[in-house]
Amino acid sequence: MNILVTGGAGYIGSHTCVALLKAGHSVVIADNLCNSKREAVDRIEEIAGKKVIFYKINVTDSALIDILFSNHQFEGVIHFAGLKAVGESVEKPIDYYYNNIVSTMVLTQACVKHGVAKFVFSSSATVYGDNQVPFVETMKLLPTTNPYGESKVMSERILTDAATAHPDLAVTLLRYFNPVGAHPSGLIGEAPNGIPNNLMPYVAQVAKGKLEKLRVFGNDYGTIDGTGVRDYIHVMDLAQGHVDALDHLAPGVHIYNLGTGRGTSVLELVHAFEEANGLKVPFEIVPRRAGDIASCYADASKAEQELGWKASRGIVEMCRDSWNFEKNFKG
Ligand code: NAD
Ligand code: UFG
Repeated sequence: MNILVTGGAGYIGSHTCVALLKAGHSVVIADNLCNSKREAVDRIEEIAGKKVIFYKINVTDSALIDILFSNHQFEGVIHFAGLKAVGESVEKPIDYYYNNIVSTMVLTQACVKHGVAKFVFSSSATVYGDNQVPFVETMKLLPTTNPYGESKVMSERILTDAATAHPDLAVTLLRYFNPVGAHPSGLIGEAPNGIPNNLMPYVAQVAKGKLEKLRVFGNDYGTIDGTGVRDYIHVMDLAQGHVDALDHLAPGVHIYNLGTGRGTSVLELVHAFEEANGLKVPFEIVPRRAGDIASCYADASKAEQELGWKASRGIVEMCRDSWNFEKNFKG
């Protein structure tokens, strides 16, 4: 299939482009590079041994998107483009709502106008709020604590309403848990700007000596060792989930958790990273971070039953590949 990948130069998008190309699809990337670099596109081509078409455009620009859809016969869209820093979304709510929601509306409108039926959307486990774990797709969503989370809830709603009004549309909402790791070549991976917000890139930068020590946000949660529990998923597994979702798209709205179904605490992840890479990661315990929940992990059985997808990489591989990318990364 000929697929439009928005945000394809970013972390999850770049790995997914490689997986799509390897599966025989052709890829057109639309990315404004607000959180990525043009080199990622060269690296996608280098790993996959195939070319992609790249447009540096803002996908909230409806006129440009209309031209793009007129110039290419897309069979599907995978919409990764979005702003994703939770803390920043509290400081810049309008930017987050505008970018994340308008992009979804513009692309949905273009799909309807140009007869592109297949749409895969990057949603997040954050839409479950502080629900009972494991999170199941059928759960009633609870309020999220930030504009980023709400932008995902609203985008899901917009796509659901669009699919109801346009019965030909086949929409899949993928709720990712915590993506980590990198392509085993070390050529693409997560390269956050400034000091990382997320645990794995922070741990990797401490191991590299770029940051002094990890601050563990709270050890008084009701979890195995008191630290926060998350469902870390290797980005290569996540990328494959998109290829499988695309293969199974059917009219209507279908929602899948993409996680491993296993929870790992902050301290378990730190120790796994140390063991996998033979390194020390100094840390200190500090108070909880505002807005964090104790535990978040998936019931991942629906994706396995309906898409035939299951995460196969464990925490050791995630830590190894994250470090392999970070240690060679010059940024
Ligand atoms: P990323 O920042 O690495 O990639 C997003 C890409 O979108 C970047 O290349 C950025 O330049 C581009 N972009 C942003 N706004 C754009 C716009 N208006 N027009 C064109 N390009 C634009 O982030 P990621 O981790 O790869 O996340 C991809 C998607 O998955 C996002 O929608 C994110 O919210 C979602 N998600 C991420 C996580 C995570 O922890 N990484 C978890 C759940 C969901
Ligand atoms: N943590 C620390 N120290 C740090 C960073 C994180 O102790 O320096 C802890 C957090 O308190 C949490 C765990 O590590 O317990 C994971 O935190 P992350 O910031 O890596 O990830 P979150 O689960 O908070 O959120 C991430 C993405 C969201 C996405 C969500 C989906 O940032 O965008 O996963 O589950 F919605």
